[in-house]
Parts: sequence; structure tokens; C-alpha cells
Amino acid sequence: MRLSGKVAIITGGTFGIGESTVRLFAKEGAKVVIAARNEAKGAKLVDSIKAEGGEALFVKTDVSKEEDVANLVQQTVETYGKVDVLFANAGVGDMQDLDCCTLEEWNRTISVDLTGVFLCNKYAIKEMAKIGEGSIINCASILGHVGQMSVSAYAAAKGGVVNMTRAAAVTYASQGIRINAVCPGYIDTPILENTPSEVIDQLVSMVPARRLGKPEEVANCVLFLASDESSFVTGANLLVDGGYTAQ
Ligand SMILES: NC(=O)c1ccc[n+]([C@@H]2O[C@H](COP(=O)([O-])OP(=O)(O)OC[C@H]3O[C@@H](n4cnc5c(N)ncnc54)[C@H](O)[C@@H]3O)[C@@H](O)[C@H]2O)c1
Repeated sequence: MRLSGKVAIITGGTFGIGESTVRLFAKEGAKVVIAARNEAKGAKLVDSIKAEGGEALFVKTDVSKEEDVANLVQQTVETYGKVDVLFANAGVGDMQDLDCCTLEEWNRTISVDLTGVFLCNKYAIKEMAKIGEGSIINCASILGHVGQMSVSAYAAAKGGVVNMTRAAAVTYASQGIRINAVCPGYIDTPILENTPSEVIDQLVSMVPARRLGKPEEVANCVLFLASDESSFVTGANLLVDGGYTAQ
């Protein structure tokens, strides 16, 4: 198993890419800490993983709140003794043009998609430094690399995650902590559920692979970055986009 003995925190772990990664990590031998807001879904997922012989803990967490993130890391260490891996995955989408985006809407997206990633990195790094190793994978997006209409705050946040990841990778490499980003393209998850089907069709037509990605296809890349197989990889942006940004 590729994550045997590792303790992994996954934020936004109850749906979509996060849930697929939780299930994959548990199968690969990790003790998985699921950080999300939906307690009922979290409890169900923990039961399902334990029923399959895995180990998991749910900690109710809003990643935009510092006290919640501090508690998440503390609960992880109290339960499993350390933090080896963080997948800072929680995120929200937006569909706003800049001239219509209210300050409240802007702050809501930035507080989850950028500040939430910062807070999780901050508290995980403190624990990883104690054991002299760790792997952090931040969830950015193709929209951290290229633009698209009507996603102003989201693109700003994801661009921030991309470059924060590089700066943090450089800062903590000598302490044995690797920090990378995974940058999904259009993936078939609940985040797209309010996107009209004609818009989805249009997006798919722009993807060289001519389809949406599957959450499992992102989870497989996160697993590689979490495992020792990527031991000399840090500061990288792994694009998982069916060729979208290569055009
Ligand atoms: N699906 C895509 O097409 C796509 C493309 C590029 C990037 N991404 C990124 O992938 C990540 C996962 O997205 P997904 O597609 O699985 O979406 P999703 O909506 O299925 O999952 C997002 C998860 O984040 C959680 N979350 C949201 N706000 C939170 C908060 N404040 N605190 C804790 N948890 C919170 C949600 O409850 C949910 O579990 C996000 O960062 C998203 O921006 C997705």
C-alpha cells in the first residue's frame, strides 16, 4: 500500500474530488482525517471506510475559520499522533463578472479558496516540521493559470494558491516538507451542478480529450504527490485537465 502508516488530512472531503481522494487514501493504508462542514455526510463516510477495513476520523471544519483549522490539526495529532499529508481541497465556485461582484461575494470566495488553503498549510506545516517531513497538496485549478469569463474571485484565489504553493515549497523544502498543487480542469463533481448543460457542452468542446474529467482521475494524481514516489517533487503544478491548458 502506497500510504501505509501515513496520517492524511483532506479538507472538503465529503463530496467530489475530496471524497474520491478520501476513499483512495484509505484503500492505500492512510489514516484519513476528513475535514468538512456536513456532519451527517462525514459520519456516513467514516462508517463506510471503517466497514471496508480502513481508518478515518471526521472533524467538523470550516476552512475559512482559523479556530476550526487549529482544532482540526490538534484533533488529528491527539488521535493519530502526527500529520504526514494535507490535501487542501475545499473550495467554492463563483460565476461573477468583476463589475457585478459584491465585496461580500468576493470575500466569500477568497476566504474559502485562498485563505482556507493558507490556514490549513500554516497549521499542517507546524506539525510536519516537528517530524521533519510531510507532503502538502493544494487544490488550485486551470483557472489559476488561464482566464475564463465570469470567474473573477475564483480565478484570483486559484492564481493565489498556485504562487503561494511555489513560495511555500521553496521556504520549507530544506525541512523535508514538499508542497505541490494539483490543478484540475473541468471535472464531473457537484461544484458544476448549477452550471447549465449548454455551458457544460461548450466547456467540453474546448477540452482536447472531449469529456469532463472524473474525480478519481484527480485523486490518482493527488495520491502520487502524497506518496514517497514523488519524493523529489516540490513546487510543482500538476495539471489534470485533458489537455485544456496545453492548447
Ligand atoms: N470540479 C471541477 O471542475 C474543478 C475544477 C478545478 C478545480 N476544482 C477544485 O477542486 C476542489 C474540489 O472541488 P469539487 O469539484 O470536488 O467540488 P465539490 O463542491 O464537490 O466539493 C467541494 C468540497 O469543499 C467543501 N467546502 C466548501 N466550503 C468549505 C468550507 N468553508 N470549509 C470546509 N469545506 C468546504 C464542500 O462542502 C465540498 O465537500 C475545489 O477546490 C475546486 O475549486 C474543481
